[in-house]
Amino acid sequence: MKDVITIDGPSGSGKGTAARILAEKLGYEYLDTGALYRAVAWKAREEEVSLDDETALKHLVGNIQITLTDGRIAVDGVDVTSEIRTAEIGELSSRVSAIPIVRAGLFSLQRDICLQGRVVIEGRDTGTTIFPEAKNKFYLDAGVGERARRRYEELKLKDPGITLEKTLEDIKKRDERDSTRQNSPLTKTGDMIYIDSTGLSIDEVVEKIFERVRSSF
Ligand code: DC
Repeated sequence: MKDVITIDGPSGSGKGTAARILAEKLGYEYLDTGALYRAVAWKAREEEVSLDDETALKHLVGNIQITLTDGRIAVDGVDVTSEIRTAEIGELSSRVSAIPIVRAGLFSLQRDICLQGRVVIEGRDTGTTIFPEAKNKFYLDAGVGERARRRYEELKLKDPGITLEKTLEDIKKRDERDSTRQNSPLTKTGDMIYIDSTGLSIDEVVEKIFERVRSSF
């Protein structure tokens, strides 16, 4: 399977930016699976659906229309590209993503997009659950301090009240939840190439991945 490249890793590991640039370089589509969980979280908040209400969540996930076009994301016709990138939706999406009914609902959508063409897909379980048969699988990591700093730089543009300490605390909480949940937790498997991006520029990270991919063709 040469046409799907998976990149998994924790928040702030740089996998989103790396995946997007890599996709451009290769002429592949890019799928940010975290945005799908963020979209569901956004809709749940919008409709005041409790995360304990499995029936309502099942209905929500079964009926949500997520549209991905040119790097923008819309939920039921509303462009939420910017709105889903807040600390609040980040936290809510991590909670939402631990719910099995939500993961099951988003599985086919992700799988179908991958099967349609050549895709760089990134998230927490893309190489383990969504496309385990991919030939090129990567796990991107970085020290928690650096990841928090990167996330803080993004978040402070939207939320001037955010602090580095709070961002670090949130990242640790999300790391713990995303990697210990029962259903498709964030895991590094032996068939993934591990890259530690601490101290590397995004171009250096992309170059490392690109070289591995190119040598596999
Ligand atoms: O990568 P991100 O911060 O946009 O992801 C938001 C949340 O979505 C993350 O905390 C966990 C969840 N997620 C997931 O469970 N599985 C994925 N493949 C991608 C994201």
